[in-house]
Amino acid sequence: MRAALLLLLAGIALPVRAQGPVTPPVPETNVLLEGEQRFRPQWSAGGLVAAQEPLASAAGAAILRQGGNAVDGAVASAFALAVTLPQAGNLGGGGFLLLWLPGPTPARQRGCLAGADPELAIGGGMAVAVNFRETAPAAATATMFLGPDGQVDRTRATRSLLSTAVPGSVAGLALAQRCYGRLPLAQVMAPAIRLAAQGFPVSRELSDSLAAAAPRLQADPVSRRLFLPPPVPGTQLRQGELAASLRRIAAEGENGFYRGPVADALVGAMERGGGLITHSDLLAYRARLVRPLRREFRGHPVLTMPPPGGGLTLLQLLGILEPFDLAATGLNAAASLHAMAEAMNLAYRDRNALLGDPDQVPVPVERLLSPAHLEGLRRRIDPLRHTPAPVLEAAAATEGTNTTHLSVADRQGGLAALTTTLNFPYGNGISVPGMGFLLNNEMDDFTALPGSANAFGLRQGAANAIAPGRRPLSSMAPTLVFRPDGRPWIATGSPGGSRIITTILQVLLNRMVHGLNLAGAVAAPRIHSQLWPDRIDGEEGLSPDSRRLLEAMGHTLRRAPAMGAANSVEVLAGGGSLGTVDPRRAEGPAVPE
Ligand code: GLY
Repeated sequence: MRAALLLLLAGIALPVRAQGPVTPPVPETNVLLEGEQRFRPQWSAGGLVAAQEPLASAAGAAILRQGGNAVDGAVASAFALAVTLPQAGNLGGGGFLLLWLPGPTPARQRGCLAGADPELAIGGGMAVAVNFRETAPAAATATMFLGPDGQVDRTRATRSLLSTAVPGSVAGLALAQRCYGRLPLAQVMAPAIRLAAQGFPVSRELSDSLAAAAPRLQADPVSRRLFLPPPVPGTQLRQGELAASLRRIAAEGENGFYRGPVADALVGAMERGGGLITHSDLLAYRARLVRPLRREFRGHPVLTMPPPGGGLTLLQLLGILEPFDLAATGLNAAASLHAMAEAMNLAYRDRNALLGDPDQVPVPVERLLSPAHLEGLRRRIDPLRHTPAPVLEAAAATEGTNTTHLSVADRQGGLAALTTTLNFPYGNGISVPGMGFLLNNEMDDFTALPGSANAFGLRQGAANAIAPGRRPLSSMAPTLVFRPDGRPWIATGSPGGSRIITTILQVLLNRMVHGLNLAGAVAAPRIHSQLWPDRIDGEEGLSPDSRRLLEAMGHTLRRAPAMGAANSVEVLAGGGSLGTVDPRRAEGPAVPE
């Protein structure tokens, strides 16, 4: 039986490596005319917002209608998610934003570009990334999560105030809006303030999610009062304290968060509860404009988030896989899945060993993306056999992964891809007294002990050790794809912890190699592998044939819960846009302008 399978594999798996020139990209088509595809993206004659929660998408779409650009729409939607999706939308967390706007941007006139220029000229416009990742407080130390036995104290690393890094979301959203938005911040935040003050009907998803997180929320008296018992679906959730915090930010910008009553309450909670964040940590926090990472994939420029974001690993994966003829071996076929899984393991090996915050540790970005290095990795892929990870480890992610991603297209073709997170759903479950918002537990994304797994099963290295002022390595990788002539095309990204990068990879391969439209590309079943644990996680929908063939190649497969939520948009060549909310977590459709 095994011999027969191997013979079969020799026939199936060998064509993995393209023999001739690389397969050209699928020609772009107007998917609305393609009646044969099983899924349909939402269409808009103008712009469109694809966020996980429909009231937040509607908030962004309303701002586009008022004359806002993609950045205004993304900021409006992100603040609305802090109200309607408290498990991931946030004021107390952080994230990354990648944007492209046509023409010269207003950032220089607004005093945002003193010194080094982070903007990247492409397609008659400019792309830039905003790094608003949370930052370790000044008193943080490399060993702060080790217990007396020298092992990581998981409760301290994830459920205490020590697990909170200095939040970046408010600084990042305010910076993006001030430098690249078109409307006043107060106008952009108005929908979020309304949703918090007037309330909104609780969805079944929110009610269920609060019930699932109840043990953690119960442990904090402030969170208990704000969120428990979980409201019955359909009842109104009003958040007066959050509305007041949002009003302060709308009036004063980031000073409304990093100074004054919000800052006092946050620091007071830290002092009483054993956390580290001080007033000077809050005052020192800066969101940063950074140059996106760029690499071509089959003639299409792909721009994504540099470290500490996950884009470098995404570009490595695209680079390793580019010459493989995945269209010929086929979507969901064992040979394609094998090539992808082996590439994932190799890219995660680099990630775990070498990546960290480039402001504090040297990250060899150019070497890791060089043709020679990518070819070296590619050569390690045996087309017939899985290469086992040197040490097997069984640790797995035990927590849900609640980050959230939104994508926006405006009617001028402007694009914004924004991923934001508290790390776990509802962060560490602890809320700031009187201010109505939860705190992140992002310190767990650092390496607490080299080689020991974090909540996502990632075994990271010394480059990602805890140090004052350092930003923890992230997998978040908001990504923009351009047409070969440079015009903007796709904005995508995903939540999912360590699965973020592989989710985005598969959305791009499905759209650009396998010819699925945006909705089908996002909906198709996904796999994930990250070196440790040494196995492929596969969603429902992988064929039993492929599973058997992969097992014969030496892979271990696990049927995994749904991975990621890649809410994506696409600018149509003739004007208008398409968008899709990932059906895995969709609470409603993408909302046209
Ligand atoms: N907190 C998950 C990530 O940033 O990758």
